[in-house]
Amino acid sequence: MRHCLCRDLTKMILGKLEGWSLGKHGVITEEGKRGTKSVGPNMTSCHPSYGRKDLLVDCCPPGFQSPLPFVDFQFPDPQSPLRIRRPAHAVDVDYIAKYDKALSIMKSLPHHDPRSFSRQANLHCLFCTGAYDQQNSNAPLSIHRTWLFFPWHRMMIYFHERILGSLIGDETFALPYWAWDIPQGMVIPDMYTNNSSSFYHTMRDVSHLPPQTADLNYVSDTNLSPEDQIDINLAFMYNQMVSGARKTELFMGCTYKAGKEGYCNGPGTIELAPHNALHTWIGSSLNPGREDMGKFYSAAKDPIFYAHHANIDRLWEVWREAHKQQLDIKDPDWLDSFFYFYDENLRLVRVKVGDVVDTIKLGYSYEQVHRPWLNMRPKPSYPPKLARQMLKTKEKNKLEMLSRTHVSSSELDTHGRALDASLTVKVRNHWRKKEKEEEKVIVVHGIEVKGDAYVKFDVYVNLIDQFKISPKFREFAGTFAHIPGGGAGKKKIDLKLGVSELLEDLEADQDDSIWVTLLPTTPSCSNVTVGGVRMEYIK
Ligand code: C2O
Repeated sequence: MRHCLCRDLTKMILGKLEGWSLGKHGVITEEGKRGTKSVGPNMTSCHPSYGRKDLLVDCCPPGFQSPLPFVDFQFPDPQSPLRIRRPAHAVDVDYIAKYDKALSIMKSLPHHDPRSFSRQANLHCLFCTGAYDQQNSNAPLSIHRTWLFFPWHRMMIYFHERILGSLIGDETFALPYWAWDIPQGMVIPDMYTNNSSSFYHTMRDVSHLPPQTADLNYVSDTNLSPEDQIDINLAFMYNQMVSGARKTELFMGCTYKAGKEGYCNGPGTIELAPHNALHTWIGSSLNPGREDMGKFYSAAKDPIFYAHHANIDRLWEVWREAHKQQLDIKDPDWLDSFFYFYDENLRLVRVKVGDVVDTIKLGYSYEQVHRPWLNMRPKPSYPPKLARQMLKTKEKNKLEMLSRTHVSSSELDTHGRALDASLTVKVRNHWRKKEKEEEKVIVVHGIEVKGDAYVKFDVYVNLIDQFKISPKFREFAGTFAHIPGGGAGKKKIDLKLGVSELLEDLEADQDDSIWVTLLPTTPSCSNVTVGGVRMEYIK
C-alpha cells in the first residue's frame, strides 16, 4: 500500500516537471531532449511533396515557416453527451440534413481558415506524403504502413468531427461510418451519391456507384453476383480481423521510431485491405492515380474518406475489444508520438497517441452492428491430406520444381525475384512445439515496388486447385495491397501474415515445409520484387 502511494506521488511530480519543462503554451520545443524515440513533426519544416511520382504538390499551410503557439490536448468534458457514430446506410434524413449543412459551411470557409474543408483535406496530404520532417531530424514523417496508421487517422477525424459540430452549434454531432464490413453496408451509402448534397463528389469510379457491391479485396472488376461477392467479403474480413490479426503487430502495423533508421514499412492487415483496396475501388479510373480516393495526397478531398476512416477506426475498437485490450501497445515511444491539429476554436493542439487510445474519453463511441464475418472461418478448398500428398509427389517427380514458377525459399533468398508471374515457394516450417500464445507468421520480406500504380498480390498456402482461388477458402493467407507513395523513403516492405489457425485447418502445422504461393493480381506486379519468404514466430 505504502509502496503504491509513493510510486504514484513520484509519478505525479515527474509528470508535473515534464509538463513545466515542455511549457503549456510555449512554442514548439525540442522533444528529442527527453531521449525518446517517439515520432512527431517539425512544423516549420513543411515542403512540397510527391502526390504521385510525376506530380509535386504543395499542401503546406500558410504561415508554417515560424514556430506557432500551441496547447496540449485536453479531453472534452466527461459530462457532455457521448457522440454516437452510426452506420451511414442507416442514418435518417434529419441527420443527413444536419451533416450536409455542417459540411457546406466547412466547404465555404476560406483556405486561410484551418477549419476549411480544403485545409482539412490537406492534412492528409501533409502527413501521408512526407511533407514534414520529423523533429530533430531530416527524416520524412509518414504515418502509413506503421503503427501510427490507426491513431493518426483517429486524431484527424476526431478534430474534423468536432469542427463540423461547432459549425452548426451541435456538440453531439458525430460522423457516420461506412460499414463496408457488413452486407447492408457493402455498397456506397446513398447519401454520398446525391448530387445536390455536399457529400457528392465527381472523382469516383462511376461503375462502382450503387447498386455495385464493393470488393473489399479489390484489384479489377469481376462478374460476381452480389451474393458471391458478399460471401467472399465476409470470409476476407474474418481473415483480416480474426485469424490473421492475433498479434499486435499483425493488426496495428510495425514499430515506427524516430529518425532516419526508425521507419519500418510493415502495414497491418486492415490497412492493406480493405483500407487500401477500397481507396482504390472508389477513386476514378479516369485519373492516373485513381484520384481522388486512390492517392493519399487527394483522398481526403472526397467526403466519403471520413466515413471510410470512421469504419477503420471502429474496427480498431472491435479488435481491441475482441482481445480485451490485452494487445494494446504499451511502448512509450508509441504513446508519446505526437501530432498537431487545429481544433474547433482555431487553437493549434498537440495531441499524443496516448491521448487517443480510449474513445470514451474522447467523447464518442460506435453504434454496434451485427458482425456476420466473426464466424466466417473459411474451409479448405481441397481435402488437406490429399493436397499435401499431391504437393509432395509433384515435388518428388520434379515436375514443377524445375520450372521458373516453383522455387525453394533458400533459392529465393539469394536472388530475390520479380513478381511477373505466380510464384510458389517451398518454405521450411521449422516445426517445434509452439509456446503458448505464439503465432506462426509467413513473412514475405524485402518487397520493393517500382512505378506508381496500385499493386496487389495474394498469398496462398498449399494451393492445389487452380479453380478455387479465392479468399473464401482457407488456403488464402492474406494480401499485399499497396498504394505507392507516402514519402517514407526507400525502405523495403515486409508483409507479415499470421497463419497459426490456417495451418491447423490445413492440417499442415506440423509439416516440415509448406508451399506458399504469391499470386500477382495486378499487371503492376511486374514492377515488384520480393526478397524472400520465411516463417517466423511472434510471441
Ligand atoms: Cu491515410 Cu485512408 O489513408
